[in-house]
Amino acid sequence: MSRTPLVAGNWKMNGSRELAGTFSDTLNANSVEGVDVVICPPSVFLTSFEASAFALGGQDVSALDNGAHTGDVSTGMLAECGCDYVIVGHSERRQDHGESSELVAQKAARVLSANLTPIVCIGEPLDVREAGESALQEYLGKQLAALTKQLSPQDLSGCVIAYEPIWAIGTGKTASPEQAQNVHAYIRATLAETDEAVADGMRILYGGSVKADNAEALFSQPDVDGGLIGGASLKADDFMTICQAAK
Ligand code: G3H
Repeated sequence: MSRTPLVAGNWKMNGSRELAGTFSDTLNANSVEGVDVVICPPSVFLTSFEASAFALGGQDVSALDNGAHTGDVSTGMLAECGCDYVIVGHSERRQDHGESSELVAQKAARVLSANLTPIVCIGEPLDVREAGESALQEYLGKQLAALTKQLSPQDLSGCVIAYEPIWAIGTGKTASPEQAQNVHAYIRATLAETDEAVADGMRILYGGSVKADNAEALFSQPDVDGGLIGGASLKADDFMTICQAAK
């Protein structure tokens, strides 16, 4: 099955209204044929974008409906601000806010019920990677199992998975294209145990120190369907180069 590549920029807690304007101008003037491009800024900047040639996404969302949950944002609010996508389960949320894989699956379900697309992040810390392949597969397998347990195959087909090895995030240490391909193939094979067609159609993004000069090698791997980009998504020219590399 051919899968439309997707490149999502995760600004994390960075950016400004001015940068939103710069990105809107650059991305709208340079649409990338055949690639879905998404920017996930801090939610306070969502409405500062004029997005015509790209989509917007949230960086996180509550698993709950509107109500007394100070500081949280709901799927409805993100949708109202123009989002089509929402990142859930980023390792920084798992680490900084103690989010479990079960909560991440609940968030994904909530995102799907609002007709938005969850970008579900999974990934291992360095000690797990160094412990060898079976430890790595067991770790990622548990993160995936929480998702496949809670979502029906139909719901699962509405998700995007992002594989982000924690040791590669913001460190400049990218997984090699072969390392990324091996894990992506494992993720697809694991999803196929639930539903082969869903696994075949699933877009699996790589994230972790993707830059303008390594994106093409990573994205050319058969099971790598694009990227979730952190630092390099804050520079419009670099981000455009990375989007082009996904074609
Ligand atoms: O969400 C994005 C990832 O955490 C990757 O961040 O490209 O700065 O390593 P990075």
